[in-house]
Amino acid sequence: MFTLALMDQHTFTHNGWYGRLINASYTELNGERVNLIHGCPPYNIGSKCPLDKGGRLRGGFDNKSYTGITDYKDDYPEDVYEQMQLDFLDWCYDHLLVDGVVVYNHKHRRKNKEILQPERWLLRQKKLRIVDMVTWDKGSTVNHDKTQVWNHTELFYVMVKAEAKRWYMDTDRDDLSDEHGDSRKTPWYFAPQKSWHQAAMPLKLAMRIVRKWCPPGGKVAEPYAGSATGMLAALLLGRNSIGAENNSQFFMTCCNEMTLFLQRAKAQMQTSLPK
Ligand SMILES: C[S@@+](CC[C@H](N)C(=O)[O-])C[C@H]1O[C@@H](n2cnc3c(N)ncnc32)[C@H](O)[C@@H]1O
Repeated sequence: MFTLALMDQHTFTHNGWYGRLINASYTELNGERVNLIHGCPPYNIGSKCPLDKGGRLRGGFDNKSYTGITDYKDDYPEDVYEQMQLDFLDWCYDHLLVDGVVVYNHKHRRKNKEILQPERWLLRQKKLRIVDMVTWDKGSTVNHDKTQVWNHTELFYVMVKAEAKRWYMDTDRDDLSDEHGDSRKTPWYFAPQKSWHQAAMPLKLAMRIVRKWCPPGGKVAEPYAGSATGMLAALLLGRNSIGAENNSQFFMTCCNEMTLFLQRAKAQMQTSLPK
């Protein structure tokens, strides 16, 4: 019963197509607006993840879970990609509550001897305003080819509706601290998490984001879910969530992992209940 009730509030969708991510994939939202959009799009670094240029698996991953994942596409012409990002930000605006927050995760990429910064498209849109920027220092580039990305940091652009006068933010809690015990300053230090998904975010980091920018009982949307770390964080922190992933293999793996996760959590809860 409890698990079902929990699941009801966490809808995960396989939207099944590459390219523009738009309303059709999110009919579940039914016009509903959310408190936090945790947006981690693919970076368009031209790779056929998870294989490197020599066709080998990239370092640090469990070969078994990766076998067979071959249909990952991340090589759009740059102008198409940037327009997709702008469309996505429009989508965020339309699905955000008036005091909601978008945490948009991106990084500096190298292309044609140039460093491409996310500001290239972020500053071309006017509906969302950047109110904070967090640098995530993960200590290494791990799974990313250094010729394609700039360094071992990622960026979180914290954005609100241009017209928003206030937005939700939990500022004062010690349990928001990173691996250096720091709860306030950027960069945030979190080592990468080993996972079947090549771009999985550490769960602790996703929890920090959810706790900081989504009120208890609120709703998180994770439109580029991958291994759905944001949804798991929401689940653990008593927030609702909705997510989508377009790669069928990622989607299936993720559903299996989430089911196992829920079963383990349920078993743990049952053993800790007073007899
Ligand atoms: C950078 S990863 C996100 C990783 C995620 N934050 C995690 O912790 O696992 C981006 C994900 O978006 C998925 N994706 C790409 N285009 C998509 C689309 N149009 N709709 C939904 N998911 C998409 C990719 O397959 C990939 O799993």
